[in-house]
Amino acid sequence: MENFSQIESDILSKIKNINDRKSYESIKTEIFGKKGIITELFKKIGSLDQSQRKDFASKLNSLKTKATELLENKLENFDQSEINKKLKNEKIDVTLPGRTYFTGKIHPVSQVIDEVTSIFSEIGFSVEEGPDVENEYYNFSALNTPENHPARDMHDTFYLSNSKDLLLRTHTSPVQIRTMLKSKPPFKIIAPGRTYRHDSDQTHSPMFHQLEGLHIDKNINMGHLKGCLYYFVKKFFEVEKVKIRFRPSHFPFTEPSAEVDIGYKIQDGKIKIGEGDKWLEILGCGMVHPQVLKNVKVNPKQYQGYAFGVGIDRLAMLKYGINDLRAFFESDIRWLEFYGFDPLDVPTNYRGLSR
Ligand code: PHE
Repeated sequence: MENFSQIESDILSKIKNINDRKSYESIKTEIFGKKGIITELFKKIGSLDQSQRKDFASKLNSLKTKATELLENKLENFDQSEINKKLKNEKIDVTLPGRTYFTGKIHPVSQVIDEVTSIFSEIGFSVEEGPDVENEYYNFSALNTPENHPARDMHDTFYLSNSKDLLLRTHTSPVQIRTMLKSKPPFKIIAPGRTYRHDSDQTHSPMFHQLEGLHIDKNINMGHLKGCLYYFVKKFFEVEKVKIRFRPSHFPFTEPSAEVDIGYKIQDGKIKIGEGDKWLEILGCGMVHPQVLKNVKVNPKQYQGYAFGVGIDRLAMLKYGINDLRAFFESDIRWLEFYGFDPLDVPTNYRGLSR
């Protein structure tokens, strides 16, 4: 008969040395497999003497129990240490700062168009659009601009090279014509968009933005125009007291016509709107010329109204203290980072508009 205690201590030390799942599997087979040590010992029982059999079987059984228990413990430890390892590696540190990622910015021109649109929609204006490429009829003739008017000159207007008729619109006023031709009065619309002129310096760019306004109804007079513009300037610049000046002017499509200046001063290097003795032109306006109404089949004896055209880029420069217009269109990402608006963090003043 083999030395049972020797076998027992061999088995136990094998189990003790198990240190990973792989060695666990192979040791388990070595002990309990088909030809495993304990399996073989069980097979031996039958060949033993009656006198030895009982004692051997009971020792073998308790060895089997012990080895099984120890193996199970090992397995549990593996599970536990794997869980601990996972917990350690997958721990989320909520105090870590979030990953920064690049967010786009809203261009000041888009921002101002949104603000202005929101202000005018509060008082009943709806939004219209027109094409950037216009023809002479919509841009000039229908707007009562004579053939020999200087604005029609090649030096002022970009004509498309393959056409005598097509041009890049020089103002948003053709949208007045398009709007009035497609339906019946009353009209109360604004039309923001790109406009083009042969011009480039610190305050002029060959492409710039305007917002057209048109209000036609029965009994609309210049008082309505004034009230509307005062309301707009106060809301846009967020000032209670505004100084506005209506300067007599001339546009072929309005009569009388005016240009509107806004009073401002420079305080601590910043523009302050509504005070001081400096003036800045922000828009052109007037009562729509009867000939324009006739051109679009609206009876000027029944309907009249006002129109205005605001320089959007000018407004953005004034409100947000930007002094070179050309930078607006250079697509410098650093400029946009600085002057642009966070899409998720709309400035409080803008939020305040809808009250
Ligand atoms: N279209 C004119 C301009 O571009 C502005 C304007 C619009 C004037 C509507 C009167 C009425 O200068």
